[in-house]
Amino acid sequence: MVLDTNRAFGCVKIDIRRERCLACGTCVRICPAEVLNVREGVLVAEPERGVGCLACGQCVCVCPRDAIEVSGRDLTRADAVLPDGERADYPHLRRLLLGRRSVRRFRDEPVSSEDVDRILEAAATAPMGFPPSHVGVLVARDRERVQQLRRDLLPGVRGMRKVMRALRPLHGLMLGREAAQGFRRFIMPIAQSYEDHDARGEDVFFYDAPLALHFYGRALADPADPVIAATLAMVAAEALGLGTCVLGFPGPLLRQSAKLRRKYGLPEKIQPGMCLAIGHPAVKFGRAIRRRFVEIRAVA
Ligand SMILES: Cc1cc2nc3c(=O)[nH]c(=O)nc-3n(C[C@H](O)[C@H](O)[C@H](O)COP(=O)(O)O)c2cc1C
Repeated sequence: MVLDTNRAFGCVKIDIRRERCLACGTCVRICPAEVLNVREGVLVAEPERGVGCLACGQCVCVCPRDAIEVSGRDLTRADAVLPDGERADYPHLRRLLLGRRSVRRFRDEPVSSEDVDRILEAAATAPMGFPPSHVGVLVARDRERVQQLRRDLLPGVRGMRKVMRALRPLHGLMLGREAAQGFRRFIMPIAQSYEDHDARGEDVFFYDAPLALHFYGRALADPADPVIAATLAMVAAEALGLGTCVLGFPGPLLRQSAKLRRKYGLPEKIQPGMCLAIGHPAVKFGRAIRRRFVEIRAVA
């Protein structure tokens, strides 16, 4: 059997370079699909066994002799690369993460296309479910395009407020008591503020950012997939000296609007995912803020 998705059909090709393979079994132990075996001292690949080879590439990465090549399901031989330089260590990462703040004031300076590519390359390393990924990215690469996206999204905010105002007595039934309260006290006022600021020519939706990246999932994605990718994009942008702000509104609005999905070439069915406003911070953050989880419970 081969696990088909709307992007991955058919069988993967697993080439074993016999002259290099020692049949050590490292790839067998690591393979999540159990399509590799050592039989009578010889490595055997059965890419159609069980759920079939997913082209995760783990066997290629662990082989001490570089004896395996996998291609298919969006994986090519050229994708097996050596990570360059030294592995980032915890102190560096901690400094980066602790120093990050949501940025809502950006300098009037574009984000270079090289940096956009770097952010996307880093985000694409996210564990977005079994490959090939079902996560897409809508890129608004300059301020004009970000503003165009904002102008396109604002009518959806207005529509949402109108519908939700009309359905007010049913909020509790529709959303549950707590979520309904959150909606009334948090989401609705924010939605209102987008419109109020817009009337004054101010952008509190994308904060005049010179770049917006919206990570969405196609129908078969898990809702977490685009969020994980967006989170890595946020960290990558931070590493490049840029600032980011997570934006929760664009996703549901794009999912709702067939007209906008058509305009921006998005698939018919998408998961809301997560959007990032990105740019050069206008303000320097001198201090970090420690944050904590609501609770950490141990399994007794
Ligand atoms: C799902 C989600 C949606 C968010 N949407 C917005 C938003 O629309 N506008 C905004 O200014 N911040 C938004 N944020 C950012 C949070 O407000 C931010 O995480 C919070 O202010 C904490 O600030 P810090 O990043 O500086 O710690 C969102 C965060 C999440 C997780």
